[in-house]
Amino acid sequence: MDFKSLVLARQSDRSYLDQPIEKDKLASILECARMAPSACNAQPWHIIVVDNPEIKNKVADATSEKLLGMNHFTKQAPIHLVIIEEAANLTSNFGSWVKRKHFPLIDIGIVAEHICLAAASEGLGSCMIGWFDESKVKKILNIPSSKRVLLIITLGYAAKETRTKIRKPIDKIVSYNSYGEKSAD
Ligand SMILES: Cc1cc2nc3c(=O)[nH]c(=O)nc-3n(C[C@H](O)[C@H](O)[C@H](O)COP(=O)(O)O)c2cc1C
Repeated sequence: MDFKSLVLARQSDRSYLDQPIEKDKLASILECARMAPSACNAQPWHIIVVDNPEIKNKVADATSEKLLGMNHFTKQAPIHLVIIEEAANLTSNFGSWVKRKHFPLIDIGIVAEHICLAAASEGLGSCMIGWFDESKVKKILNIPSSKRVLLIITLGYAAKETRTKIRKPIDKIVSYNSYGEKSAD
């Protein structure tokens, strides 16, 4: 698959088949995560693979919210990857402080997309989950309370077809040489 096709194949899958994920596919996805870039190569992440069905279902419960109807699909996914922010290195921390931007948040966004694109290239579906009960997840997985759990990614064989993407038009998100400036042609 060329890169553009891979980008189009990746989507937030919210329905999964009752089918396990092969070990080699998971290993390949995790290796792609390991290769993700990060500010000053700090790699400020730790990924917990939750593949024990009982523990995974507890994590899934911590992502769903009855009142708002959020994330009821997560239990269907056989694997949840839980991404924890780890301490960055000195140079990244210095950069974050001087430039007033928390680089680990950007780094973790990148590692998450590496995971989702790698999953798509293995024929798997994924969904990034930002809405979950963080303290419940920490308790279930014995994560120290001082740490931040930033994202959970559900992984599994998607039960639904690829959708057409709904996105802002290109001229609303790109300008040339000056903010808001359209290209001449
Ligand atoms: C940081 C982040 C958090 C997200 N959290 C959730 C979530 O809690 N539940 C969910 O169903 N989708 C979640 N999504 C998926 C987005 O809704 C989705 O990426 C967006 O609507 C675009 O659709 P697509 O991924 O299918 O292209 C999240 C995506 C990102 C990047």
